[in-house]
Amino acid sequence: MTTPLILAIETTCDETAAAIVTSGPSVLASVVASQDELHRRFQGVVPEIAARAHVERILPVLDETLKNADLTLEQIDAFAVANEPGLAGSLIVGLMAAKTLALVTGKPLIAVNHLHAHIYACQFDEQTSIFPCIGLVVSGGHSHLYRCTSAFEFELLGGTIDDAAGEAFDKVASMLGLPYPGGPAISRVAEQGDPQAYQFPRSFIHDTDRLEFSFSGLKTAVRYEIAGTGHVDFAELDLSNELSANVAASFQEAVVDCLVEKSFQAVERTGCQTLCVGGGVAANQLLRVRLQERANQHGIRLCLSRRQLCTDNAVMGAIALEKFQAGIFDSLDLDIHPGLVRQ
Ligand code: KG4
Ligand code: ZN
Repeated sequence: MTTPLILAIETTCDETAAAIVTSGPSVLASVVASQDELHRRFQGVVPEIAARAHVERILPVLDETLKNADLTLEQIDAFAVANEPGLAGSLIVGLMAAKTLALVTGKPLIAVNHLHAHIYACQFDEQTSIFPCIGLVVSGGHSHLYRCTSAFEFELLGGTIDDAAGEAFDKVASMLGLPYPGGPAISRVAEQGDPQAYQFPRSFIHDTDRLEFSFSGLKTAVRYEIAGTGHVDFAELDLSNELSANVAASFQEAVVDCLVEKSFQAVERTGCQTLCVGGGVAANQLLRVRLQERANQHGIRLCLSRRQLCTDNAVMGAIALEKFQAGIFDSLDLDIHPGLVRQ
């Protein structure tokens, strides 16, 4: 079969998403039900709320996806599902839905690693294969650098030793009284600020032996700058627009410097000529511009996930097409793997 139809499901965190994809890769339908509204007042994702919301949304999202593609369940050739990493309660909802669909239709089940899928999102705008490449995933839960040999071979080169890049954006936004998710809010405010106003730390940036990130010290430096070292209720802080803009711009500059520097250290270490970048933080305009500048200097190919595929979606589950073509399927015993032990 040359043009399989794959229905992919994504419920690893707080988006309930489904998509139908086919060879190309190309998209026939994509639905994302965001839960941002439910988590906003907590300034971050509450796992139990996320899991319950997935249960309510998964069937309507699946119905709408099939309807938008003008397809019936019987026409789908395989069901793909992100079963790692993510929130346990959230992952289970997607996995049970995919297993049920595979069971009732007798069609194959294909497991997707959510982080690998974020990198594969870059394939949609490329005429040739993105592999082999260095893959940078920068999201709310992860900041990882991989050497990707094929759609099935991802070697973890390094990652964050504490907060993920997106998590740092979300936490700093919360300190500045900006809404969740923090990434877009910080970028917006940063436009009015001076990125050189504060010299925030850039951990390990010149240590080429360590392909690791650390954003916890940066987050603490921002806290000390705006609130000192004592106990503080951030909701009570009355920060001037100028100070908020300068802190946001300087913070964003520091995160981008670290991400760009480490990515190109990975490129140099491995000799890879392609760098692929995905995940929610890859939507950041400053990061995209800086990566492109460096890629031009180094003469390497940069593949950026298109903006609407940076944050969580099921379209990136198209990585399952490669498994389908290779005849790699999973059994109905498939389990979830919330943590990062398995890469
Ligand atoms: O990939 P994603 O949707 O979910 C996870 O897999 O975690 O990433 C969400 C993260 C959030 O932390 C959000 O603040 C961040 O991506 N984000 C951004 C931007 N848009 C979303 N961070 C920086 N700049 C942005 N424009
Ligand atoms: Zn993600």
